[in-house]
Amino acid sequence: MKLWSGRFDKQPSELVDELNASISFDQRMFREDIMGSIAHAGMLGAQGIIAIEEAALIIETLEEICADMDAGKVPFLTEHEDIHMCVETELTRRIGDTGKRLHTARSRNDQVALDLRLYLKGEGAAIRALCLGLLDTLTNIAGEHLDTILPAYTHLQRGQPTTFAHHIMAYANMIRRDVTRLEDCLERMDEMPLGSGACTSTTYPIDRGRVAKELGFSRLTENSLDGVSDRDFAIELTSALSILMMHLSRLSEEIIFWCSWEFRFVELDDSYATGSSIMPQKKNPDIAELVRGKTGRVYGDLITLLTVMKALPLAYNKDMQEDKEPVFDAVDTVLAILPVFTEMLATMKVLPEHMYRAAGEGFINATDCADYLVKQGLPFRDAYTVVGKLVNFCIQEGKTLETLTLDQYQTHCSLFAADIFDAISLATCVNQRNVPGGPAKESVERQIASITTFVTERRQQP
Ligand code: ARG
Repeated sequence: MKLWSGRFDKQPSELVDELNASISFDQRMFREDIMGSIAHAGMLGAQGIIAIEEAALIIETLEEICADMDAGKVPFLTEHEDIHMCVETELTRRIGDTGKRLHTARSRNDQVALDLRLYLKGEGAAIRALCLGLLDTLTNIAGEHLDTILPAYTHLQRGQPTTFAHHIMAYANMIRRDVTRLEDCLERMDEMPLGSGACTSTTYPIDRGRVAKELGFSRLTENSLDGVSDRDFAIELTSALSILMMHLSRLSEEIIFWCSWEFRFVELDDSYATGSSIMPQKKNPDIAELVRGKTGRVYGDLITLLTVMKALPLAYNKDMQEDKEPVFDAVDTVLAILPVFTEMLATMKVLPEHMYRAAGEGFINATDCADYLVKQGLPFRDAYTVVGKLVNFCIQEGKTLETLTLDQYQTHCSLFAADIFDAISLATCVNQRNVPGGPAKESVERQIASITTFVTERRQQP
């Protein structure tokens, strides 16, 4: 028998039951559902809406149910429809009529809004902690490679020399933004919707503030229609996760080609790579590829959520039951990826000699060569033209800027002197860029310190 069967003459068909039920995927919120019910029952008792002894019995029994659900002793049945009715049915099965008083001054509409916020607050915090761990790994790698020179690319063409530390710290900056995006999102999520009822709150003298405090929320939702129909928090979280995945997919893509024999900038640890069933020589970067692939999946979750919510009239509509699977999928995906991705990076072997070789081949010090002439008084545009001709000459002669003779330099422009060779050495090119944000050792050390402080501050917060 359905809890709502009173108005009906017939039972729903089995197929309807199955389509209607969300228990297969909302059962994971049983702890949050029970926490919410415990706070609600305590408040009903304190406000004299139900007897204090009844509230106590409800709370005690809910605690037992929670332990039993944890131990897998309570079945989650389709006939219970969703986790809210499952818990309530189990409560009433155990304590009879007293159990039936729990749903006073409450609706599943505000209940599900509460459960989802509670659940996602927890998962969001767990993801944030994993991002801090990823930042540790990135700063460690950067600290070891302050002098490891490689080309910085634009258009995937060798552009200018930089260091691996500088390159890795670019990703650390992305992940720091992800952390602050999660924090913003969690801050807005921190509103307690219970008391919104089905849509227009309740006539009972409830104490919403007490429930919010007990459940660890900072604020109440301010409008009951919005309280039951707002899913911005799920969309925002999935959006923050989509951006995080986009960042991970960019690093994954780089790792994929860095491991290729064309680059050979890094080598993945055996435990974070896989082989081929047919080609014996293969060592494949599957983890990075999966991260790249799963990014599409998380974007899909975001689009699903946005589309489910599009044009929904106020307030609750059953469409909104479709909110859970995508946001859970996004959260599960990111939670599964972050620890593996972080370990893959931590165990990855960097091959500085191959990076340096690539840096030496692509005329990536041409800008510095032009800057040298500018420092001798030539306008930049003219210097640019001189160096362009020099590069052209090198290509024809099979030379690099390092292997030209001073004579050959001076034939192109009389302003060149013997110190040109020092000016275009890759180490000079990098360390001359000591402006904030640049790749010079000191500058990258400042970048590392900034991220380290960011992480430490967060770890010190209660
Ligand atoms: N299982 C529902 C959901 O996930 C709970 C709320 C149902 N409310 C209702 N009036 N049918 O959205």
